Amino acid sequence: MAYKVRFVNYPRQYQQLKKEFDSVFEEIMSGGDFILRRHLEEFEKRIADYVGTKHAIGVNTGTDALYLSARALGFGPGDEVITVAHTFVATVGAIVQCGATPVLIDITDDFNMDVNQIEAAITSKTKGIIPVHLNGHACNMKKIMEIVEKYRLKVIEDAAQALGAKFKGKRCASFGDTGIFSFYPAKVLGTAGDGGLVCTNDDTLARKIRAFRDNGRVESVDEIECFGWCTRLDNLHAAILNMKFNYFEQWIERRRAVAKMYEEGLSGIPELLLPPRSDGDYFDVYQNYVIRCKKRDELLAHLQKTEVEVLVSWRVAMHKQKVLSLDRFKLPLTERISAEVISLPMYPELTDEEVGFVIEAVRKFFIH
Ligand SMILES: Cc1ncc(COP(=O)(O)O)c(C=O)c1O
Repeated sequence: MAYKVRFVNYPRQYQQLKKEFDSVFEEIMSGGDFILRRHLEEFEKRIADYVGTKHAIGVNTGTDALYLSARALGFGPGDEVITVAHTFVATVGAIVQCGATPVLIDITDDFNMDVNQIEAAITSKTKGIIPVHLNGHACNMKKIMEIVEKYRLKVIEDAAQALGAKFKGKRCASFGDTGIFSFYPAKVLGTAGDGGLVCTNDDTLARKIRAFRDNGRVESVDEIECFGWCTRLDNLHAAILNMKFNYFEQWIERRRAVAKMYEEGLSGIPELLLPPRSDGDYFDVYQNYVIRCKKRDELLAHLQKTEVEVLVSWRVAMHKQKVLSLDRFKLPLTERISAEVISLPMYPELTDEEVGFVIEAVRKFFIH
């Protein structure tokens, strides 16, 4: 169906930056620079500097960035790793794929891990924790790092949705042993396909992850340091991301301005809950703008009819997915939130008129 406002609009971004996209393509194709080349090195350096970590290692996806982190940290059979169910399945998948056991705790109204539930979930088997900075809003990393230090746990920050977000002035993915990003097209920084990256300050972990991503090779193709995988960030994607990163700060400011418009336009409706505010210790990048409403499915149908494209992430809480066998966890807020959430259109190319149209469409549902 044709929408008046799309949930994301990739062709619009391409049209706005066509010359730059095309010249990246031409440069890479005419140079034949495809695998582990200069553009990747440059991109890794820029992201490491931006996030404030010593190393950044480009990999194929955010999923692989999580998995390689978990393997490098030695998560394995017999280990428990604490995380949330209100996340993309890859967060929990990384734990399971290593043979470790996920321990799921509930979230709070900011959609992130309830830090007050962490200590009760720790046992003698707990090896690590994966906080997820959902929707571009940081977890309370002060509290998490205090617990981590007390119990000597390992931390992978799932910052797949949070490049640029900060807690107390420090960027997400710079607190933990590793922090990961996804460059899936719809992400705050997205490529024309899949991409991911691991940040770390630890030289040993960095070397392991570099070896893992390229079948055990780091310095030379003749020297294999370990068995690994083939999961490098393609140089073409790195070049696209490098070009797009020039606009990143400006795009984040636009996302924050759109969020402010939503916040002002949608406040004062008692049946509607708006996302956490980006103030005080929190600098948000608004990967998503997620509203909550008890009559979610009716609001969804109304927005469809009004030709506003929206998304529900996630309708079925992860621990309720039958094949994952995780329904031993009781997570009441996670379950309630999966029945209430709707993500509104949120990207820098949205016009003020489109944002106004979405606001009006939502308001009309509540105010007749
Ligand atoms: C919170 C979270 N973790 C992990 C991932 C996995 O990233 P990718 O799709 O690049 O594998 C995503 C992507 O949707 C995500 O949103």
